Amino acid sequence: MSQNAAVSAGDPLWYKDAVIYQLHIKSFFDGNDDGIGDFRGLIQKLDYLENLGVTTLWLLPFYPSPLRDDGYDIADYYNVHPDYGTMRDFRRFLQEAHKRNLRVVTELVINHTSDQHAWFQRARRAKAGSPERDYYVWSDTPDKYQEARIIFQDFEGSNWSWDPVANAYFWHRFYSHQPDLNFDNPRVHEEIIRMLDFWMGMGVDGLRLDAIPYLYEREGTNCENLPETHAFLKKLRAHVDAHYPGRMFLAEANQWPEDAVAYFGDGDECHTAFHFPVMPRLYMALRMEDRFPIIDILDQTPPIPDPCQWLMFLRNHDELTLEMVTDEERDYMRRVYAEDPRARINLGIRRRLAPLLENNRKKLELMNTLLFSLPGSPVIYYGDEIGMGDNYYLGDRDGVRTPMQWSLDRNAGFSYANPQKLYLPVIIDPEYHYEVLNVENQQKNVSSLLWWTRQAIATRKRYKAFGRGSMKFVAGDNAQVLAFVREHEDERILVVVNLSKYTQMALLDLADYAGSTPVELYSQNRLLEVKESSYVVTLSPYAYYWLALERETHEDDGTTDEGMYELEVQGEWSSVLTESHEFAAQALPAYLRTARWFGDKRRSIQHASIADTLPVEGGGETAYLLVIEVSYREGASDTVLLPVAYAGADKAQRLLDESPRSAIARL
Ligand code: GLC
Ligand code: CA
Repeated sequence: MSQNAAVSAGDPLWYKDAVIYQLHIKSFFDGNDDGIGDFRGLIQKLDYLENLGVTTLWLLPFYPSPLRDDGYDIADYYNVHPDYGTMRDFRRFLQEAHKRNLRVVTELVINHTSDQHAWFQRARRAKAGSPERDYYVWSDTPDKYQEARIIFQDFEGSNWSWDPVANAYFWHRFYSHQPDLNFDNPRVHEEIIRMLDFWMGMGVDGLRLDAIPYLYEREGTNCENLPETHAFLKKLRAHVDAHYPGRMFLAEANQWPEDAVAYFGDGDECHTAFHFPVMPRLYMALRMEDRFPIIDILDQTPPIPDPCQWLMFLRNHDELTLEMVTDEERDYMRRVYAEDPRARINLGIRRRLAPLLENNRKKLELMNTLLFSLPGSPVIYYGDEIGMGDNYYLGDRDGVRTPMQWSLDRNAGFSYANPQKLYLPVIIDPEYHYEVLNVENQQKNVSSLLWWTRQAIATRKRYKAFGRGSMKFVAGDNAQVLAFVREHEDERILVVVNLSKYTQMALLDLADYAGSTPVELYSQNRLLEVKESSYVVTLSPYAYYWLALERETHEDDGTTDEGMYELEVQGEWSSVLTESHEFAAQALPAYLRTARWFGDKRRSIQHASIADTLPVEGGGETAYLLVIEVSYREGASDTVLLPVAYAGADKAQRLLDESPRSAIARL
């Protein structure tokens, strides 16, 4: 079985628990010193990504292209741009990623091609009306489909451009060098199935469907989200289900919630879709110090089919889009987040996360906490885990696509090339200069944003509720405090954030959870028990809490009323003493927490593992001396010795009567 088969054979709903990392191959690491990142370089940095804790990599387009839209203008769907390596390099990358259990999502850009693509060059020369010509959308006048908006409005005045070779206008929703493919031509469908087979056949785990709302054009409509587009998606999905189970489609549909959910179909179109409208509202809520924008947009978001998942993001490779807000909201966002007109592009803002948040560490943690807590899977944009800066004096959206900052070496440790040769200059803004702001420095400092991010990801991954849970807002008297509960099976996590720059108090209505005890996830510290009456929380500026609402009965941690853990065992009882067994993972820490002889009760146990098992003969049954490594949320770990033996029901009862905490588990 190939490595990839091993990864793909996992849970088909893997994307629900995913933590996705978005990167451009050219920006990450240069493996051959030519100033451009490549697959060989990326392979060298896979350990970094694995260590960060992300589970999935989303790669921006890496195909042959004139690079006039950074690779979203594809000239050949079946190859790798020579700047980034070869197909062999890509295959090796895929293998290396899968070896580390990292899944890989690539781009399927099918709305348009580059005008340099062979199909377009053939089409413009072909006879009008021929199938070759009809790969694209042509017209004798630029007057058709007037209701379609112009997306790149800073650059294009029309969705039609004149082609002197074809003697006709061609349709394009983006740059005029990106002609739209014609989905009314069945041959175009066949071409797309072919390229899907090519990449999925190779083992790619997911495809991001770029610009998916714009596939078809129809007179009298805005040419977005048309029924024909959804019918085509169902056809693509059926093909994937038949041939590549366990893979994922990701819809890039920058639309209002009710139009965006349509891309899930009845669970028979895309598995995941970006939640575009919630993104700007996170920034609005923070700046207005008011939870309303977040609650409002999530209330407007219809439920989605069970196997589907939203993807949440704060930033990406494009401008912070302000298409899915009202005119007033857009004005507000630009005023407070992009005072300098040069920071604006099209309808949005071309800045990275840290500069948008004034490099305020508390705000960075708060926004990331929201990213990791809202219903969906989070997408992290490369560099945001270290709080990288931007450079909006560069053209188009290049200011947020600069080289990853690895160290204080030449070119931020990204490349050994002559600095003048880099595909884009590194960030030297004094506040975000790569000599200070880089991975190496942050790796050395446990207080860095990188460490914080790593811990947040690890903590999130311990609770399925974040990826799979339901969400319910919690009523509270203070509009500056947002609270909600994520619930999945027996996990209930209360998320509380203070959107204000001042200390706040809030009375939360947690009556539904009366009797439970909030346990802070990072520290495992227990707070005051929840009662029927309002629960009081006090929050410092921009504070955030992740609190597990633990039921007071012992059922929750698997222990019985007598404080014992119940384990099911088949065969030898000593089979529970292996590292991966529930005994070590759950029963031991639960026992140690309450054992009277056990050390420092103020420190909370993070993990207990059996380092060694020493058999001790005596009295018939074999007993064991366990060497247990106990690690804590903070500080150095301990080694403790614990003798364990098996006792039958009668003997166990006798022992328990004599010494109530003598038993760990009931088998
Ligand atoms: C998507 C991409 C963007 C690109 C556009 C046209 O919106 O995210 O970067 O410019 O499609 O392909
Ligand atoms: Ca290179």
